[in-house]
Amino acid sequence: MAQPSEAGGGGVPTIMIVDVPRSRLPGRLAEAMAIYVTAMGYPASSGSQRGTHMLRHAGFDSFRCRAALAADGTMLGFGYGYTSLPGQWWHDLVLRAIAGDTQDWLGSAFELSELHVLPAAQGAGLGERLLRSLADGLPHRTMVLSTPEGENRAWRLYRRMGFYDLARNHLFPGDHRPFGVLGARLPFPPSGGASR
Ligand SMILES: CC(C)(COP(=O)(O)OP(=O)(O)OC[C@H]1O[C@@H](n2cnc3c(N)ncnc32)[C@H](O)[C@@H]1OP(=O)(O)O)[C@@H](O)C(=O)NCCC(=O)NCCS
Repeated sequence: MAQPSEAGGGGVPTIMIVDVPRSRLPGRLAEAMAIYVTAMGYPASSGSQRGTHMLRHAGFDSFRCRAALAADGTMLGFGYGYTSLPGQWWHDLVLRAIAGDTQDWLGSAFELSELHVLPAAQGAGLGERLLRSLADGLPHRTMVLSTPEGENRAWRLYRRMGFYDLARNHLFPGDHRPFGVLGARLPFPPSGGASR
């Protein structure tokens, strides 16, 4: 398995955040997609479609993926992203949707494509650890993402990490749900830091 990039401390069972290089992804894809469908409440069938996208994204030079692993190696959560570039589906749609200085937000941006933690493992800071590990040392000016509108843990996490609204109630083709498009300056504020 990939090398640990960071480990939990204290006397509690250790959950490690590890890098998942593209070469290791196929072997962990089913586990990641099971987390994706469970965390999002999607039908199991949507995992295979998403998995195909993830494998394609893993071909990008800038692909970066982190997983949270329990002591026995079970995956509890994962997140990944890559450099957001013109010509990519999400980038081109968001470029037209956001107000203000689009170059400032999208000109040097790491696009967070997915971030999910198994429901039973949520509420213990794993999402934040995954996000911080993904951002660690990135050369990009910003991190950008979209997430379904709602008052939930994802929104609380993103606000805590300093994400701003770039667009609200945005509709992507093929999805009836409104999304918030959010962006944060990198590096992230230190733990316990950000407002708004
Ligand atoms: C969004 C998601 C990835 C966040 O993961 P998480 O591990 O639950 O989130 P966090 O790391 O923010 O931790 C959550 C809570 O643990 C608390 N916490 C407990 N111990 C903590 C610690 N040591 N460090 C940090 N936070 C800690 C936080 O205060 C936070 O409380 P809050 O949710 O009441 O604000 C996860 O909830 C999820 O998978 N949700 C469903 C899928 C989804 O919406 N994904 C995002 C789509 S873009």
